Amino acid sequence: GIELGKLLSQTGYITLDPGFVNTGAASSAIAYIDGDAGILRYRGYPIEQLAQHSTFIEVSYLLIYGELPTKEQLEGFTSKINRHTLLHEDLKRFFDGFPRDAHPMPVLSSAVSALSTFYQDSLNPFDEPNVELSTIRLLAKVPTLAAYAYKKSIGQPFLYPDNSQGLVENFLRMTFGLPAEPYDVDPEVAKALDLLFILHADHEQNCSTSTVRLVGSSEANLFASISAGINALFGPLHGGANSAVLDMLEGIRLDGGDVDKFVERVKNKEKGVRLMGFGHRVYKNYDPRAKIIKKTADDILAKLGVQDELLDIAKKLEEKALSDDYFVERKLYPNVDFYTGLIYRALGFPTKYFTVLFALGRLPGWIAHWREMIQDPATKIGRPRQIYTGEKERDYTPISDR
Ligand code: ACO
Repeated sequence: GIELGKLLSQTGYITLDPGFVNTGAASSAIAYIDGDAGILRYRGYPIEQLAQHSTFIEVSYLLIYGELPTKEQLEGFTSKINRHTLLHEDLKRFFDGFPRDAHPMPVLSSAVSALSTFYQDSLNPFDEPNVELSTIRLLAKVPTLAAYAYKKSIGQPFLYPDNSQGLVENFLRMTFGLPAEPYDVDPEVAKALDLLFILHADHEQNCSTSTVRLVGSSEANLFASISAGINALFGPLHGGANSAVLDMLEGIRLDGGDVDKFVERVKNKEKGVRLMGFGHRVYKNYDPRAKIIKKTADDILAKLGVQDELLDIAKKLEEKALSDDYFVERKLYPNVDFYTGLIYRALGFPTKYFTVLFALGRLPGWIAHWREMIQDPATKIGRPRQIYTGEKERDYTPISDR
């Protein structure tokens, strides 16, 4: 494939593929997707098995280093992460500059970008010990940054990390705890969030991961590349869809809960009206992650005793869409975002914050791709071509003659 690409580029022909629907940009050994069969595997392990037996920290290790860790490797990895959760005190002050009602995604991407200014040893992407350190720093500090982005938005004080706790538990405590009060993490809540992070941890060449690789291909450092990935994830057609689903469900509820009426608006292609959380570039079958998440939504809402009218609307909407020709013909099924927002809401997160949770889950996947790309001798700087459609050559006219 690579040789053919080189040959074609010498002939003067350009392959035009808007949205890169059929363009492979990399060889990768990290995640495998069969979109027609609805299969997702990380490093060969089916997502269903990892969801059932693994933990987010173990999956992070698997994605980044390629193998499941031994007990000692996992302990070493976990304790290294625990040692790096604190932020530099000056980085905490960085949050003061943002308006309180700022969206937490650009706050998070700015803070991650700023990590290169605090850790200048990270600038050389070929310095392996420092890439390793940047990897650990990201896994450890992004949850702290994400919790502070939330605290900033509600005007509460920041909590220092408590490194005796697990990654997810610590994150929940820093997000929902208060300095003067003990905060007992509900193990069910921590387990549900850990599971959601596992299911979001990688998904091959999606918009944000490709962005991380493209930025990294210029030999920009890991922090700069991940910050770009967070910005790519922000959009409602990508990670922002989990918030958009909740806004859509809330809109249907306020409009009397009429699912049929909403589906008609979607089918009529009213401007800006899509069935959010449905459809996928690669899956032309039920997204395997959505299957697991749907069950988790039922379980966790029941366990927490939450009655959510929006869950009923979501189920009716899914049922209606799956039996409607418009969606059947286009092979549109629920994707990972359709039910996640309902779980995040039940756990107490505001809608605006959902995409930050997606970023936390996707972090190890982005890191794994950046490292794979930097180590691959076939990597070249990403530099697509274009088909020029502008004016042919013309002569400059003085302003008095225009
Ligand atoms: N609602 C209604 N119609 C849809 C939807 C939808 N959610 N998704 C696709 N379609 C229709 C399109 O209008 C198009 O119809 P047409 O052939 O009559 O023009 C057809 O299905 C194909 O859609 P495309 O936009 O060409 O599909 P593409 O692969 O480019 O887009 C995407 C995939 C962006 C995910 C799309 O399905 C979408 O917008 N979904 C809603 C947003 C969403 O849930 N995003 C999260 C994706 S998963 C993730 O990023 C984590």
